[in-house]
Amino acid sequence: MKTIVITGTRKGIGKELAEYYLAQGWKVIGCSRGESSIPHEQYQHFALDVSDEQAVVAMARQIKSSHGSVDALLNNAGIASMNHALLTPADTVNRILQTNVVGTFLFCREMAKLMRRSKSGRIVNFTTVAHPLNLEGEAIYAASKAAVESLTRILAHELAQLKITVNAIGPTPIETDLIRGVPQDKMEALLARQAVQRMGEVRDVINAVDFYLRAESDFITAQVLYLGGVC
Ligand SMILES: NC(=O)c1ccc[n+]([C@@H]2O[C@H](COP(=O)([O-])OP(=O)(O)OC[C@H]3O[C@@H](n4cnc5c(N)ncnc54)[C@H](OP(=O)(O)O)[C@@H]3O)[C@@H](O)[C@H]2O)c1
Repeated sequence: MKTIVITGTRKGIGKELAEYYLAQGWKVIGCSRGESSIPHEQYQHFALDVSDEQAVVAMARQIKSSHGSVDALLNNAGIASMNHALLTPADTVNRILQTNVVGTFLFCREMAKLMRRSKSGRIVNFTTVAHPLNLEGEAIYAASKAAVESLTRILAHELAQLKITVNAIGPTPIETDLIRGVPQDKMEALLARQAVQRMGEVRDVINAVDFYLRAESDFITAQVLYLGGVC
């Protein structure tokens, strides 16, 4: 049975990804600050903050002793704050960078150490179209995901010799709590900039993630795939 680690599985896209891979017969190891919301015998949950280095290292140790290695990692956990830069406190900046950048880095580092043992692995990081579209009101969120993209490309080079691929997916807006506060006019203006002008769905994310995870995708690394025709 293949094992996949997915961060941010309590709700939103991460929860649906977890349920999808469970249905595909994978063992899913998830995490979030809150408790598990997925009752399934092949699902294991760690309640932690992805930016807490000690907790992430302890989780990796536990996975190593129970499973030996992991096949894939989806760095889905993320937070956003939509606000004008002049109204954004440093505390918000730090929280976003800690979760989106530090959290993604820590999971890449610790899970790559486990994947190293099996000489294969797939890492998929989560970015957003807010970065290439330079969306107003999302300066810190977009900057944090720009960092995730840079991390993705450089780790792809560093981990290639271990036969680990590192790619990213950049969804367009998908109905979750993350975007609940975005005003309707802003959302319509955003959709108008996509080639395919509809809301994204989790199935769009799954389609791209599945592509990255395939055994045949061992020559696909350091790539960022935006949905909806954004470039
Ligand atoms: N929805 C969209 O329109 C959209 C568009 C582009 C990109 N994305 C990206 O897709 C990913 C998932 O977004 P979503 O829409 O599903 O968001 P969401 O509905 O707000 O869910 C976020 C998930 O991450 C977990 N999480 C947040 N901070 C965490 C932390 N510090 N440590 C551990 N877990 C944490 C949350 O659980 P807890 O609260 O229990 O921690 C939750 O399960 C994010 O990386 C986001 O940037 C989303």
